[in-house]
Amino acid sequence: MEIGVWRGKSAFLGALHAQPSEPVVLVDISDVTDVAEQIRTFHPESVVTVTGRSSSVFRASAPYEQYRTAMRFFHVDGGHSCVGTYADIVIGSEMTSDQALISIDDFGNMRYPQLHAAVFKFLFERPDFRMVLCGANKAYLCRTEDFAFYDGLIRDQLVRHATALGSRFTLARTSYAHDYGCFSVQPFEGRDLVGRDEDPDDVVF
Ligand SMILES: C[S@@+](CC[C@H](N)C(=O)[O-])C[C@H]1O[C@@H](n2cnc3c(N)ncnc32)[C@H](O)[C@@H]1O
Repeated sequence: MEIGVWRGKSAFLGALHAQPSEPVVLVDISDVTDVAEQIRTFHPESVVTVTGRSSSVFRASAPYEQYRTAMRFFHVDGGHSCVGTYADIVIGSEMTSDQALISIDDFGNMRYPQLHAAVFKFLFERPDFRMVLCGANKAYLCRTEDFAFYDGLIRDQLVRHATALGSRFTLARTSYAHDYGCFSVQPFEGRDLVGRDEDPDDVVF
């Protein structure tokens, strides 16, 4: 599911990873019928669009009730205000299943300082969610119960997987999970993994 579709760049990528049985739900103030039509060319099963504001029109729509708790990936890329981003992350928490990820676009892009406030407001209020990865202008949140699973996956596989795809970066982990620390994708600094500033070899949990 995505809030903020525009011309569909992230919606296409998300839909490419959907199983045939999984619905793709797209919400935007503007009509995104053309994006949905193009996605149906490779994912014909279930593409649902809702035209209108996420916090009002979508919340009152049939798909909101129908797909509540069903989504396993939820992308937030609608209005970039603090209140709008916060409201959309809350919708993400309502729409997602166990082991789901909520991604927030433009996290790390200081053109939108207020968007960062929204992410941390949510994290401070909701200890049942944690940020598990950030970098490259994205933040990824998961349920706290699933944090260790994703943390282990990132620690063991992300660098190897990205290197095989031709991407080189350093994965930093500068603090503990209980200190809001998480893995962070950084420009390559000569090593794959780097830990705390005090001891870069100590990649803590
Ligand atoms: C940055 S663009 C999205 C870019 C898109 N995800 C991509 O990958 O190219 C933001 C989109 O959010 C939509 N939008 C803004 N506020 C919204 C809201 N409250 N509810 C739904 N959509 C919203 C805009 O109409 C616009 O299409």
